[in-house]
Amino acid sequence: MKSNMTPAGMAKLEVNGKTVELPIMKGVDGPDVIDVRTLYKQAGVFTLDPGFTSTASCESQITFIDGEQGRLLHRGYPIDQLAENSGFLEVAYLLLYGHLPTQSEFTDFDKKITMHTMLHTQIDSFFSGFRRDSHPMAMLAGTVAALSAFYPDAMDIHDAEQRELAIHRMIAKMPTLAARVYKYSIGQPFVEPDNNLSYAENFLRMCFSVPAERYAPNPVLTRAMDRIFILHADHEQNASTSTVRLAGSSGAHPYASISAGVASLWGPSHGGANEAALNMLREIGSADRVGEYVQKAKDPSDSFRLMGFGHRVYKNYDPRAKVMQETANEVLDELNIKDPILDVAKALEKIALEDEYFVERKLYPNVDFYSGVILNAIGFPTTMFTVLFAVARTIGWLSQLNESIEDPAARIGRPRQLYTGAGQRDFVAVRDRVSQS
Ligand code: ACO
Repeated sequence: MKSNMTPAGMAKLEVNGKTVELPIMKGVDGPDVIDVRTLYKQAGVFTLDPGFTSTASCESQITFIDGEQGRLLHRGYPIDQLAENSGFLEVAYLLLYGHLPTQSEFTDFDKKITMHTMLHTQIDSFFSGFRRDSHPMAMLAGTVAALSAFYPDAMDIHDAEQRELAIHRMIAKMPTLAARVYKYSIGQPFVEPDNNLSYAENFLRMCFSVPAERYAPNPVLTRAMDRIFILHADHEQNASTSTVRLAGSSGAHPYASISAGVASLWGPSHGGANEAALNMLREIGSADRVGEYVQKAKDPSDSFRLMGFGHRVYKNYDPRAKVMQETANEVLDELNIKDPILDVAKALEKIALEDEYFVERKLYPNVDFYSGVILNAIGFPTTMFTVLFAVARTIGWLSQLNESIEDPAARIGRPRQLYTGAGQRDFVAVRDRVSQS
């Protein structure tokens, strides 16, 4: 990655009677960015931005989001075109290498990934240390971190060849790990990968086949799984990706950094939202109760939120949610399921999109609103939803981590703070202390 941008102008800031000049950088798309790197040096002050609502933490060439317009581009290609026309591994190649692969590049990449789908047999012994009822994300975070112990060569993150190998291994092994997490939680034997199958087909087989029966892949479900992987593949500097970049900035083993991303993804405000959205739809239960829940979501004294609604960046329809809704219809038709949950979801979406509270705050369905309906129909329990998200997002994390390691401007991430605690004071011996509570 090259960072040879020239400033489009200078911003002037008056601080404590001093004028500070800061470069204004112009990206290819999106708002201009004021480069505050020299602010502390010039004026001795920091900026405060909890939640990073106005702060770009890095320069990136991977993904672009226009939240106002509801646009999501990977390396310039709109997400709906990718979801319609390509497969997950093609998108993975695009994110990692910056261009769509030619046929021979794709064949080579596909083969490389396929060669690494198996896990070291010692990894399996980690599973027996977990309780069967452990949350699947706890098992995933633990076993992804454990993988770093098996590949010490990847510790040299500045060796580009080792790094590429580590990336290929991780893309290949993540579905095998995730499927083991599922099989372990339901007490079924682990299913080894079948390299004759596609990425999504192989994953579904490792999750749903049993030794006692023949397994026939269903093309509609395979396509739906592949789409879910594509739609979750990357989303620029979200919480888990920033976590991976930050962990990696210290030079940590790449798999340990990915494990940090898994932990960050787990929360209900991020990757856990699809689990929470489906639980909410189940709790609502029928379309006639939707109004009651919309009222609850609007009540400022009630902490309830419509899960799967709203987004830090999108102030318009999440473009991924549209593809998800279509896929939900396809999957339910294929399986001939009349799921009342889909009716609840559609009724909720309709009411919320017309309600002044949601319109005013620009709250629209996000990618998680319909994905739970699909995953539930395919047969996954809700606790596995975030694990599937992690399988898909692994390529985004790896591409972003790779970019950050290659960035000549990259330094260890070290945010500053506005300190509001006690001022300096002298130590008091325990016998002389008075209670503060
Ligand atoms: N239901 C009801 N009200 C909401 C919702 C919601 N889902 N989301 C935001 N609001 C309201 C807030 O109460 C607030 O109202 P106020 O101005 O009257 O106080 C206003 O909208 C702005 O909300 P913030 O929390 O400031 O928005 P923020 O950008 O910080 O939060 C978030 C974004 C966390 C995604 C939020 O919309 C939310 O909690 N949504 C539900 C969880 C969810 O679906 N997360 C998935 C995100 S997508 C992903 O990770 C793949």
